[in-house]
Amino acid sequence: MATVLGIESSCDETAAALVRGQAATGRGNILSNVVFDQMDLHAAYGGVVPEIAARAHAEKLDVAVAQALEEAGLSLSAVDAIAVTVGPGLIGGLVAGIACAQGLSLGSGIPLVAVNHLEGHALTPRLTDGLAYPYLMLLVSGGHCLFLVVRGPGRHERIGTTIDDAPGEAFDKVARMLNLGIPGGPRVEAMAREGDPARFALPRPLMDRPGCDVSFSGLKTAVRMVRDDLVAGGGMTDTDIADLCAGFQAATRDVLVGKSRRAMALFREMFPDTAEAGFAIAGGVAANGTLRAGLDTLAAEQGFASVFPPLPLCTDNGAMIAWAGLERFAAGLSGDLTPRPRFPVAENPMSGVWTGKRGAKV
Ligand code: KG4
Ligand code: ZN
Repeated sequence: MATVLGIESSCDETAAALVRGQAATGRGNILSNVVFDQMDLHAAYGGVVPEIAARAHAEKLDVAVAQALEEAGLSLSAVDAIAVTVGPGLIGGLVAGIACAQGLSLGSGIPLVAVNHLEGHALTPRLTDGLAYPYLMLLVSGGHCLFLVVRGPGRHERIGTTIDDAPGEAFDKVARMLNLGIPGGPRVEAMAREGDPARFALPRPLMDRPGCDVSFSGLKTAVRMVRDDLVAGGGMTDTDIADLCAGFQAATRDVLVGKSRRAMALFREMFPDTAEAGFAIAGGVAANGTLRAGLDTLAAEQGFASVFPPLPLCTDNGAMIAWAGLERFAAGLSGDLTPRPRFPVAENPMSGVWTGKRGAKV
């Protein structure tokens, strides 16, 4: 049994958590999980401002750690290892988190473990449900879109990614172009509830190509063109907006469900002997009810057990970093503490060889 402190500051959440458990069995015990979001600081700018984020992390990290220890009723001396996110993410936040972890380690002699943020998401179903290796993972958030085959700590294969926008990013951009405000995803979902998904013909990008890679930029452009036509024709009614949101959401679901079906087939080819395989879904977009329903139905149809970790553990948090650190620590993988803004979770990705204009997203 090990107790690990996890520190996360790669984007706009300052988080610290204490987790106790055994790597071999999974299902850790979350002793505390403190998350400070920075929504208020960035709201006026319509997105995360890296310099503001870095400063806020530097100010709040020690508070988050102190609070995590207090809520767990532990002193630092009860901690076996300190896990910290070293990438991918915004460099200022990563540096702040690593400096905090190094300070704690220097003062106490507790060993450090470097954690890839995406591995933190990928191993969360082990923490929450003790999901057995190997399993298939779909990570859908504002920054990432990944299909991963998860075999063990440090042993992942990327079998699909986005070649342009992440799905959450597409939801946020659609919300912005329809003036729905933030947070974009939940606003689009709420509008879509009243809408007709079949009224506007929207594309299902890359479904005509083999493989599990996805793309959302063409879909987003198609939504913009419909909006422009409506505006030019006299303006958008609430019904128009609802129908457009419903159409966009249905297209996103169809793409992710269609590519998940392919990912499942690939997984079966890789592991023909795995009887009931796990299919885990995490990231903020996993909150979307229409997407969840589509993925649940698909998993049942394909004989996969679907696992949706509870939402606070799907979005960025310290517990996932503590758990990934716990598994790495047990495996003797302490890692390199250099901050890495770009840090692929799989070293030899089987997808994403052709890239979007800003490069492949990890
Ligand atoms: O995982 P997350 O909290 O943060 C990172 O991106 O790391 O994901 C946030 C993203 C945002 O883009 C947000 O719009 C999207 O998840 N999201 C949703 C929903 N709730 C959050 N997208 C669609 N439907 C939702 N209900
Ligand atoms: Zn994340």
